[in-house]
Amino acid sequence: MARESLTLRRPDDWHLHLRDGAMLKAVLPFSARVFGRAIVMPNLAPPVTRVSAAEAYRKRILKALPRRTAFTPLMTAYLTDTIAADEIERGFASRVWIAAKLYPAYATTNSDLGVTDIARIAKVLERMARLGMPLLVHGEVTDPKVDVFDREAAFIERVLAPLVRRLPELKVVFEHVTTRDAVDFVRAQRPNVAATITPHHLTISRNALFQGGLRPHMYCLPVAKREAHRLALRQAATSGEAKFFLGTDSAPHRIADKEKDCGCAGIFCAPAALETYARVFEEENALDRLEAFAALNGPRFYGLPPNETRVTLEREKWKVPAKVKVGTGAVKPFLAGEELGWQLLGKPDSPKNR
Ligand code: DOR
Ligand code: ZN
Repeated sequence: MARESLTLRRPDDWHLHLRDGAMLKAVLPFSARVFGRAIVMPNLAPPVTRVSAAEAYRKRILKALPRRTAFTPLMTAYLTDTIAADEIERGFASRVWIAAKLYPAYATTNSDLGVTDIARIAKVLERMARLGMPLLVHGEVTDPKVDVFDREAAFIERVLAPLVRRLPELKVVFEHVTTRDAVDFVRAQRPNVAATITPHHLTISRNALFQGGLRPHMYCLPVAKREAHRLALRQAATSGEAKFFLGTDSAPHRIADKEKDCGCAGIFCAPAALETYARVFEEENALDRLEAFAALNGPRFYGLPPNETRVTLEREKWKVPAKVKVGTGAVKPFLAGEELGWQLLGKPDSPKNR
């Protein structure tokens, strides 16, 4: 008989955009109701390049939390061409940031101060390798000659493969992988190279971007790829392998910023993230592996204990909200208005979810 409820260790989100100000306040409860910890991306404007900025941002996140919600933001440093290895080390040694994020310059939202050439941060990467500090990678080349659907595969060949050859001890998380190439690459490396996989890349192929018309809310970077890649991602996520773990890449933008001539990249999947993963794992007959993917593999990679508390999903139909208000505007969640078959027990800020 199909299971009626599913209790797991509280999961963590190893890749999340929380933004700031009114947006932070509006979106944070959706992550904090379910995840115990989250790695918070540093691509604010201006980006988080200083230890002091990360500390201040962490404080703003904690202040924006709903009352009595236990949620730990894990901060990250934004790598630039000129960031000092000493600053990186200082933040890591003082436990302000847990990892550093490599955005190739102009690859995505707020990446204009990102790294123009990985050779420029060679010293920083060497230091990180020595410290055991993970490098989180947005794995796309920005070369306009490379087709947008091939940018991840080209990144592996041009940047990532040479990097792990040069610094085999560097801990690397290949974030939000979208291709079979990335899955194969990660599998072929030592255990210190891992990957996160989003709920939306497990759910949609690039067809979804054009279904009946142009669909800006299905647009994120790296963009969803063809179906064969989606199937490879599903196989990796549900395999139970320690190298693959949960990272939602929930990336909210106001509807007005998505539905315009040059709409922003990013999918706001936080309102139904765990429930969407559960659907995928059930479809793949792998519900028994959801806990490894969502709550065990990530902490093990980062050298942290898994959460001691639990969450429960019940087999109960519910609808993903159509919109989430942010100030005078709103954000549209992934799968807005759609029905899902697993529901998290308790309201976002209810005691049941603590
Ligand atoms: O789609 C994306 N949105 N991809 C990223 O890498 C950044 C993110 C954002 O911050 O909006
Ligand atoms: Zn991201």
